[in-house]
Amino acid sequence: MQLRAHPAAGLRGVTGVPGDKSLSHRALLLGAMAVGESRITGLLEGADVLATAAALSALGVEIGHGADDVWRVHGVGVAGLAEPDRQLDLGNSGTGARLLLGLLAGHPFTTFVTGDDSLRARPMARVIAPLTEMGARFVGRSGDRLPLAITGTTELLPIRYTLPVASAQVKSAILLAGLHAPGRTTVIEPQRSRDHTERLLRHLGAAVEIEELDGEARAVSVLGQPELAAAPIVVPGDPSSAAFPLVAAALAAGSSVRVEGVGINPLRTGLLDCLQEMGAQLRIEAQPEQGGEPVADLAIEAGPLRGIDVPPERAPRMIDEYPILAVAAACAAGSTRMSGLAELRVKESDRLHAIAEGLSACGVGVEVGADDLVVHGHGGPPPGGAHIAAQHDHRIAMSFLVLGTLAQAPVTVAGAETIETSFPGFAALMNRLGARIEPVSP
Ligand code: S3P
Repeated sequence: MQLRAHPAAGLRGVTGVPGDKSLSHRALLLGAMAVGESRITGLLEGADVLATAAALSALGVEIGHGADDVWRVHGVGVAGLAEPDRQLDLGNSGTGARLLLGLLAGHPFTTFVTGDDSLRARPMARVIAPLTEMGARFVGRSGDRLPLAITGTTELLPIRYTLPVASAQVKSAILLAGLHAPGRTTVIEPQRSRDHTERLLRHLGAAVEIEELDGEARAVSVLGQPELAAAPIVVPGDPSSAAFPLVAAALAAGSSVRVEGVGINPLRTGLLDCLQEMGAQLRIEAQPEQGGEPVADLAIEAGPLRGIDVPPERAPRMIDEYPILAVAAACAAGSTRMSGLAELRVKESDRLHAIAEGLSACGVGVEVGADDLVVHGHGGPPPGGAHIAAQHDHRIAMSFLVLGTLAQAPVTVAGAETIETSFPGFAALMNRLGARIEPVSP
């Protein structure tokens, strides 16, 4: 499917955004490990999360939702999954695949796991290594790519593991495996990454300990073989989805937009810091916590933005927001330097390459290195007028549609159906605020 974004005048209005993707996966996976029925409100009904739900159903977990939009997960308890009679397809989702492998490591049967073209190209060694150390066995294509087979065990060993990359997915996979091992499993993270798994484990009654180490590092431990108790889980709006209307409104002259009920976990708010440093008129109005996560309404008005230096330490706190930050940088005055971006090469696409190529096609000056990016801003609408391939990457698709909204000439995105993975209704929501994003025939 092709979508074309036409240059728009100001965006105005009040909106919510769909539920947080990271939390939605975790709500289903951890709900499945609890005893009893967990009721989940605000679950993201995007393709990625639905793939995780389908995988859990194939593993014997009853999952459903009624007319009230509350999802119900009948947890089977830690170690209660059943051997599936088919291959599990996690679609586009690295989070779904890697976290599920953590759970499967503690189950004594073989499961075949695969994904779409994008997921089958992404590295799995980062979870295979620690889970093998704990006792799971893997057979994978070229060693570390999906499809792969995992054989778990009831005799998983607890480990103490230092993450070689700042990755919440790897940390979470080990903690979920640690639920099945006797004693304490510890993950040491040199840089902090999103802590939704830790918060949700505590919410369901697991003992999670956090020890502050030197600098930014910390050690996160879970005590294995707990009895998790089902509990209501509320999923706030996804800050990574809110990023798109926020950046569009920050730059389209005359805009005033309010996005309500957005999760503002401090390990997810790097983009908000950047926008404030760039001079955006952004107000963060705190709301009551939901499901152990901080929440706010975000109000933004258009104004000129200036380029900034984004330090590498910020990368884990805004890892998914570099594509849309690059779009903001393209419209800002002056240059924006972003560094510490090596992980962008192994996301749904090689995002560093996709951002640089797309911006050049839109007439924006960029310099790309091994793990850094400089965007030379236009100080106003960039030329646009390009045709961009989404490359199975929802955030690339949405970022360039926002660029089209802000540019001098329309931007067309091919493969835009990938937006369904994280943000169903994206174009309709943007259009309600005043954008003009329309399907076009190829
Ligand atoms: C996620 C962690 C991040 C992020 C991804 C979601 C998660 O990946 O890019 O979209 O839910 O844990 P890494 O852990 O690989 O950095």
